[in-house]
Amino acid sequence: MQDLSARTAFVTGAASGIGLALTRALLDEGMTVAAADCDGSALEQATEGLGGPDRLLTLPLDVTDRAAMAAARDATIATFGAVDLLCNNAGVGGGAPIHQAEFEDWDWMLGINVGGVVNGIVTFLPALRERPEAHILNTASLAGLYNTGDPVFGIYSVSKTAVRTISESLRWALRNEGIGVTALCPGFVRTGIARTGRLHPAVLSGRREHDAQTEAMVEGAMAAVGMDPADVARIAIDAIRQDHLYAITHPEFAPAAAEYAAILADAFAQAGGGGNDDALRPLAAIRNAERSRYMADPGVTDR
Ligand code: NAI
Repeated sequence: MQDLSARTAFVTGAASGIGLALTRALLDEGMTVAAADCDGSALEQATEGLGGPDRLLTLPLDVTDRAAMAAARDATIATFGAVDLLCNNAGVGGGAPIHQAEFEDWDWMLGINVGGVVNGIVTFLPALRERPEAHILNTASLAGLYNTGDPVFGIYSVSKTAVRTISESLRWALRNEGIGVTALCPGFVRTGIARTGRLHPAVLSGRREHDAQTEAMVEGAMAAVGMDPADVARIAIDAIRQDHLYAITHPEFAPAAAEYAAILADAFAQAGGGGNDDALRPLAAIRNAERSRYMADPGVTDR
């Protein structure tokens, strides 16, 4: 979607961090924006003065609530007439390390980080299909591109790997419908995500001591080395314009991703069996389609 102006975006998690930066940047591009967040009062405060009611609609919304998501879609269309860009951005960090997690830890994080994205897609796809062209931006993470193995980020990595995979499959499925799909994969960004563990139901009900020390550590690291969310929003918008599958914000992690790919390659090198090259054809077709978007000369031949 080259020209964003005079089109409408729907952004979740818009009260803070990347979602707020996206809201600002999309308004600057001349879009009308429906900005949604579960923290309605933070949303009002953060977006104050960003745009009048003819440009900006604020919607209190918990992305795990499917009926509320449908109501938010209807309110957006009633106000602005259509939706062209869906930004499934809301997400949480924190929670329990994977080896100490209870059911509610899994349900909480997967419910928001994966379920929220699924709810956005299923709810908004029919409206996006009505448009001559449309785009879906799903906020994944570097943690969805390769696994550091750190138990603290275990469930988070599961959730972001799912968002990345959803984006890849959906992109392929929608390729002939004029709907692009991008997975935004940032590294550390200076946002409020280190504090979202406080939203965890077990923390809210006082059943588990919230680990303030870990929270402070992650927050400190983000403040020290984190990217400005405005830069992340700019990279995301460039990727939407160029219809890239991945929006990578931290190229310095390329060696780490390559190392992870090498671990998988080693495992394949040790594998027995196989020998059916025909099984590779569909993958080669996808690879060709993606490479041709990034490079003038795809340089990859079908097998
Ligand atoms: P943030 O905490 O500053 O913003 C997230 C927003 O989502 C908050 O306003 C929060 O109220 C909202 N939210 C949380 N649960 C919600 C729900 N159930 N329904 C609706 N809104 C909800 O954090 P940040 O970093 O801006 O997070 C945005 C996305 O970026 C998340 O998906 C996160 O996983 C992802 N991300 C963040 C990175 C970072 O270093 N900050 C790195 C990679 C990905």
